[in-house]
Amino acid sequence: MNKDLQSIQPDRPNIITTEIDAVKFHRKMDTKAIVARMIVREQVIVEKFYSDGLEILAELKRNLSLKYTDKSFQGQRDYRSAFREASHRLLLKVKDNKLLVKKSPEIGWLELLYPDVSEFYVSFPEVQGMNSSWQWYKKGIEVETLNLILHPFYGTYFPTRFDHLKLFDKWLKNYVGSKEKAIDIGVGSGVLSFQLIQNGFENIFATDINKNAIIGVSQECKRFGYEDKITLNHGDLFENCDVKADLIVFNPPWLLAKHKLEEGIDKAMYYEKELFPRFFKHSYEHLNSDGKIVLIFSSLAEVVDEKSTHPIIEELRNNNRFRKDLHLRRDVRASSRRTKRTNSRRKEKVELWVLAPKLKK
Ligand SMILES: C[S@@+](CC[C@H](N)C(=O)[O-])C[C@H]1O[C@@H](n2cnc3c(N)ncnc32)[C@H](O)[C@@H]1O
Repeated sequence: MNKDLQSIQPDRPNIITTEIDAVKFHRKMDTKAIVARMIVREQVIVEKFYSDGLEILAELKRNLSLKYTDKSFQGQRDYRSAFREASHRLLLKVKDNKLLVKKSPEIGWLELLYPDVSEFYVSFPEVQGMNSSWQWYKKGIEVETLNLILHPFYGTYFPTRFDHLKLFDKWLKNYVGSKEKAIDIGVGSGVLSFQLIQNGFENIFATDINKNAIIGVSQECKRFGYEDKITLNHGDLFENCDVKADLIVFNPPWLLAKHKLEEGIDKAMYYEKELFPRFFKHSYEHLNSDGKIVLIFSSLAEVVDEKSTHPIIEELRNNNRFRKDLHLRRDVRASSRRTKRTNSRRKEKVELWVLAPKLKK
């Protein structure tokens, strides 16, 4: 691992380390009244049982759904934003890396992410997020194409379906070009890099804008003995990359953002308009003349909104940099990207695009 990366600190939920002026909730209190106070900006600490917090959040949902009755896209967005804001006023106390309330889950992230803080408050929704992430981390995700079990680090994107990995595997098995150097943009939990290694690639420059992804992949590389094969980097696209590669792989976010992006998982799902033009411009500079780009994409945006543009087709149409070498599509089998499976989701296809540079450099 690159020396600079040893000092990288994970992104972690915000905490409060000072004493706070907050209402202390216990079971004799009226949940409705407590929720009303949270809505007018008072903080509430859950003192006795973890389930008290769940009840308060259920009541908050009920309360806000009565106010936010507009079912339009914007109306529902306003509702979610009000819930998000108020729910973060519900707090839990952590002492010696454990939640103080009774019957609460054991969450290893409290120790791993906060080794330096002995007492703090953290919001209930953040605790729920850490709990869910801890369950995935502990249990692991079996990736058949790799014959490995991955343990994704907190706040990192990881696959919950595998159609795109199968497509990539099929393509890799037939790949006959040079396997000296590859670049994996947006390494996430490391899956594509690990596939490259298992298929004989010698050296991979793997990078992500999410610090936690880099920390997680570095731990996984140690576990699998892949450290000599991967150079990890934290940065935006090709930042700090002075490599020219035979292959550049990118499984980018699939949906154009209509909101301001937050750090972390948000940037794994949504992209800003300039992401793809920047990616193609720099890919061209970092690719050997007989190299290839492999992009994993999905028809999801198109299925949801017919008028949406396809960033890869746009590149091929508008610029004279790349030609299409191959385009494979495959049905989507199970839900993923943390969204519920809907009708539109059922029509979705996952895509693998292979592009080659057009002009000889
Ligand atoms: C859909 S996930 C794919 C992760 C992994 N490669 C996989 O196939 O499961 C997209 C990844 O790209 C990363 N990403 C998004 N924008 C980026 C950027 N500008 N530079 C580098 N990485 C970025 C995200 O943090 C995320 O880890």
